[in-house]
Amino acid sequence: MLHLAVFASGQGTNLAAIYDSILSGKLTGVELSLVLSNNSQSGAIVFAKEKSIPFIHLSLLQVGNDEKEFEERMLKVLSGANIDLIVLAGYMKKLPSEVVEKYRGKILNIHPALLPEFGGEGMYGLNVHKAVLAAKKKISGASVHLVEGEYDSGEIILQETCSVYETDTPEILAERIRSIEHNILPLAIQIVADKIND
Ligand code: GRF
Repeated sequence: MLHLAVFASGQGTNLAAIYDSILSGKLTGVELSLVLSNNSQSGAIVFAKEKSIPFIHLSLLQVGNDEKEFEERMLKVLSGANIDLIVLAGYMKKLPSEVVEKYRGKILNIHPALLPEFGGEGMYGLNVHKAVLAAKKKISGASVHLVEGEYDSGEIILQETCSVYETDTPEILAERIRSIEHNILPLAIQIVADKIND
């Protein structure tokens, strides 16, 4: 059984999708061992409490913006929970480089667009969908990729597309893509978990 940590800053709907997938047997061989959030008020933390999933609130502010101390704490928390695999499900902070190093090939991120387009610094939340609409794209979607350090870079594991309509607002497009994310994120976790177990 692989120990999975989900990092999330926001609502936590992708976290819920992972949880449901494990419960329903869509995602196997993986245990949801830890939820980590930089935001103590996040939906992800509320969800973890509700479902009795171990969780931790960890932010740079807590350690007086000391990046080294933050990195050490994160590494300690991860090894303390025997984490094998990390999923960034709406985690809005950059990961400390030692964490990326230690878990290379074992960190996944979900991005609400078809990478490599519409990725990179500043491309988060509604900014992504605004950019897709401004570029008059007919197709968008979601991507799950390995994290290699730079924002939204690394091998793409899975993508799924959807149509973009002229009448779409960023919010409407975000909702359409959110349901795609909930489908492909557990599938991508399964692919990487199977590879680790091989
Ligand atoms: C998702 O759209 C994800 O692609 C992005 O942040 C959002 C998180 O949503 N990185 P939620 O917190 O899982 O509901």
